[in-house]
Amino acid sequence: MNSKIITAVAILSLVTGCAPSDKSTATDTVLTLPPVAASKPVSVDERLVVNLTDLQRDHVLTQMRTMLDSTQQIVEGLAEGDLKQIEEAAYVSGFKLSQTPEHRAEMGGLQMNKALPREFRQMSKTTRMMFDEVADMAARGESVQDIQRVFADGMHGCNACHVTFQIPTP
Ligand code: HEC
Repeated sequence: MNSKIITAVAILSLVTGCAPSDKSTATDTVLTLPPVAASKPVSVDERLVVNLTDLQRDHVLTQMRTMLDSTQQIVEGLAEGDLKQIEEAAYVSGFKLSQTPEHRAEMGGLQMNKALPREFRQMSKTTRMMFDEVADMAARGESVQDIQRVFADGMHGCNACHVTFQIPTP
């Protein structure tokens, strides 16, 4: 009887003897998991997805870089009081230029109107019309401060669209 109990205790201690090493493996795993899990929710992008083909995406992002370039030149023109520079830079990103036959043909070929949501196209048009307004104001020789006011207000359009939409790589 006693020897049976001793055997049982011996087996138990063997089992529990093994347990700590199992546990420490489990603890190691638990310790390495949280940073990995925690990094995931941070990268979730909840903006609406605009699904575009490679070519369509490239088209939109190229236009975006043109708008950033216009913005840089307009800001520089404002700082230097160079109305000609403001006019030319703004015209490049304006709505008028986007309506020329060449641009319309390019947009049609890429089926951009079908691909882009209506709200996206509307916000894009509003922003482009603001660039035309800036170009026209510069052409009329209006004050740098008035032009800057229109441009600063119009740039809310950039932000509004950027917080709403994303264009993932196809
Ligand atoms: C109608 C919507 C819309 C408007 C208006 C808009 N953008 Fe964008 N822009 C986007 C989206 C969508 C992306 C892709 C963002 C993403 O997927 O993270 C983008 C990307 C960009 C990029 C990155 C280009 C690249 O090569 O990756 C730049 C720069 C940019 N926009 C500048 C501007 C500027 C400057 C304005 C305003 C003068 C502007 N955008 C107005 C929707 C817009």
